[in-house]
This record gives sequence, structure tokens and C-alpha cells, in this order.
Amino acid sequence: MTGPAVRAVFDAAAQDGPAPLDWSAPITLAALAAAGPDEATRLVLDVGCGEAGAYRGPVGLGPDVTVVLGDLSYGALRHARAAGRPLAQLDGVALPFATGSVDRIVCSLTLGFSSDPVAALTEFARVLADDGRAVVAELSRQRDASLAFTQRLLAEELAGAGVSGPLRTPLPPLRRIAGPAGLLVTATREETFPTGITSPDHCWDWFTSTHRTALARIGRDRVDRLRERIVTAAADALAAGPLRSAQGVTLTVLTPAAGAPR
Ligand SMILES: C[S@@+](CC[C@H](N)C(=O)[O-])C[C@H]1O[C@@H](n2cnc3c(N)ncnc32)[C@H](O)[C@@H]1O
Repeated sequence: MTGPAVRAVFDAAAQDGPAPLDWSAPITLAALAAAGPDEATRLVLDVGCGEAGAYRGPVGLGPDVTVVLGDLSYGALRHARAAGRPLAQLDGVALPFATGSVDRIVCSLTLGFSSDPVAALTEFARVLADDGRAVVAELSRQRDASLAFTQRLLAEELAGAGVSGPLRTPLPPLRRIAGPAGLLVTATREETFPTGITSPDHCWDWFTSTHRTALARIGRDRVDRLRERIVTAAADALAAGPLRSAQGVTLTVLTPAAGAPR
């Protein structure tokens, strides 16, 4: 999907208010930690901050560090205002920052929405300082199958609504596209982020928080029906045993390649 189409979907998803659960904040915080800010760090940029739940409390950075929260979607940024940090409406492929001016970039669960991830990484390489670092976090395997029924029910509603084609484009391996973008992969780490589901309504909140864009692509009637089906299935499942998500995430640390043109 193109930038304007992606932006329209995220704007639509933000219209219903902030996500009911802050499931992705720990992933962003892990990416920020992996970026290894140090005493020389002054400017951190989050590309695709979404609602910026991770930045609403302390993030372990000193008072000399400015964190700029950037996103393509104005709707997402409206909710990100609650973080009380500088905001920038931007596209990852054309960052409004001078060459070599950014110390750390965090890009969590966002690069996969770009129609041109190499262009986005090339832009990261341009704006990063020589000793700068970017961390890209992307979802990998779901390690607990107990919530698989939610995917099945969603797939049925998407098919019924005639929605085809994923919003996300499968990302090529970052090791393959980093080089052409002028970046080096210096570390890769796999982490798991668990969420225990405690009630049928909690299951729906988790689901709407993790599938906001899919829900924004089907009509209100289908969302209401899906809610009923998921809550009923979750009640049955919880009567039989525990329900939880154990979301795998790959964190990739990238640095500017020495001598690459910028
Ligand atoms: C799945 S959300 C992730 C938000 C946040 N990083 C988190 O983990 O909660 C993806 C976000 O990336 C933004 N986005 C998508 N493509 C983008 C692009 N090319 N440049 C900047 N932001 C983009 C969307 O508007 C959306 O807010």
C-alpha cells in the first residue's frame, strides 16, 4: 500500500479513540533500550510512534535528551500528544532532519507498512550521526496458539467484507536490505512479549488493540458481530484453560556503514 493509503487506514483506526490496551509499549521500550542511548545522546527519533504509549512515563533518558515522536498519521499523533513530547508528522522515507543530526532511531512495528523499506532505511542512514544507531522492531512468531481462534474469526469477516490484500508488505530480511541502504546490522535479538487474557472483554480489548487497522477496513456491523463472536469464543476457551498471547518480536540494531554516501 502507498503512504497515503496507509495513512488513511491509521487515521480511520484512530477515530474511535485511543487503543484500549497498551500492548506495544513494552516492545518500543525494548527497542529503545537496544538502541543503547549513552551520555552523548541528545536526539532520539521514533519513526511511526503511533499513540506513543511507551513515552507517557519515564523512559530512562536524561533531561538533555529530546525524544521526537514522528508518525505519518495525524490521527495517531492526536493521541500521541498525551506523551507531552515534540511531535512531527512525517513519512519515514523523507525525514525532516538534517544529515547526521539524529543519535538514535526507534522504528517499532512500522517498517512493514512502508511500500519502500529500502528508501526508509536509506533515510535512517542519512539522518543518523556517524556513531548513531537505529533499532527496527518487527513482529515474528506468535508462540502461544491459544488465541488463534481470533485470527480465524477475523479472516472470515475480512473475506465477507471483500477486503483482500494485507496492509503490511512482508519485509525482506533486514540483513539483505540494510547494505543497499547504507546500514550495517550489528545485532539481532528475538524477544517474547506475553499478555495474559483474564476475561472475554479483556480478550476483545487485546484484539482491538492489536488489530486496529484490520477493524478499520470492515464496516461497523461486522465489527459488532466479530466482537460478539470473539467474546463468546473467549468465554468458552477460558472455561477450558488459560488464554494468552506470547508475541515474538525481532529487534534489529543498525548503524551507518562507514564510507556509505549520504
Ligand atoms: C502498528 S503502528 C505501531 C505504532 C507504535 N510504534 C507502536 O508500536 O505502538 C504503525 C504506525 O506506523 C505509522 N506509519 C506507517 N507508515 C509510516 C511511514 N511511512 N512513516 C511514518 N509512520 C508510518 C502508522 O501511522 C502507525 O501509527
